[in-house]
Amino acid sequence: MGENPTEDIAAFTDVIVEFGDETIYDGLSFTVKRGEFLCILGPSGCGKSTSLRLMGNLLEAQGGEVSIEGLPPERGWNKLAYVFQSPRLVPWRSALGNVLLGMELRFEKQSKWEREETARRLLNMVGLQNDMDKYPSMLSGGERQRVAIARALSVDPNIILMDEPFSALDLNTRWRMRSEIIRIWKETKKTVIFVTHDVDEALVLADRILLLSNKPTKALETIVLDQPRPRDIENSESLSAQKSKLISLFRQLEQTADLETV
Ligand SMILES: Nc1ncnc2c1ncn2[C@@H]1O[C@H](COP(=O)(O)OP(=O)(O)OP(=O)(O)O)[C@@H](O)[C@H]1O
Ligand SMILES: [Mg+2]
Repeated sequence: MGENPTEDIAAFTDVIVEFGDETIYDGLSFTVKRGEFLCILGPSGCGKSTSLRLMGNLLEAQGGEVSIEGLPPERGWNKLAYVFQSPRLVPWRSALGNVLLGMELRFEKQSKWEREETARRLLNMVGLQNDMDKYPSMLSGGERQRVAIARALSVDPNIILMDEPFSALDLNTRWRMRSEIIRIWKETKKTVIFVTHDVDEALVLADRILLLSNKPTKALETIVLDQPRPRDIENSESLSAQKSKLISLFRQLEQTADLETV
């Protein structure tokens, strides 16, 4: 695989997903560029998490094609790492031990010393240089999520999949984590695919927002954001206009979803 920066690192082509009688995706297509920060935005239940599960080979599509670095998910899954809404740490391992765990599974051949050096460097990058020996129960919600980010980075993935990673945090921590993830993304040059249902979050983070429709889900709209970061939505005319547009699209989606359930 080349290092061409314009190359698509992931692609969905006419993907169909069905659970029993219910069609979740009815031909979903989109691409992700190498190095991009893509936010996937959409109403609850439209299949945002499903798209990450397909990429991670945790779920198989009934039709169409999902590709990661040009490979089907069963061969491309090891180019990815996940950060979930809850950090899913092992309680009996320290922060350092948790980061090491993922590496022990994927990099059997590396020496213990090499793995530890990487884990320490990454915990340092996420701001936990003084908390490496703490157990998850001793860490705050934001700190636990930092461990999960370091763990994801530790397997040196090309793509980081984030599924509403900050939605369980308090407001201040959430804002702090958003600027942190931008710093880490710039520093590591990874591709980030970030699922959220928060319009503001998508607007401050993304290079591009992919808005999904209600089920059966299609890509409804793509919004390109080229404003420099850090972004202040209220003080930017273009961001405020994009926000109004997204909110009105969202309202329409919610109304049609309500009608369908009546
Ligand atoms: N294993 C499953 N069996 C049956 N239905 C499923 C299964 N997994 C997901 N679904 C359905 O598929 C749809 C999409 O689910 P998904 O979790 O991807 O939504 P989401 O967009 O991530 O929602 P949220 O914003 O609430 O997290 C939902 O209607 C859900 O009920
Ligand atoms: Mg979800």
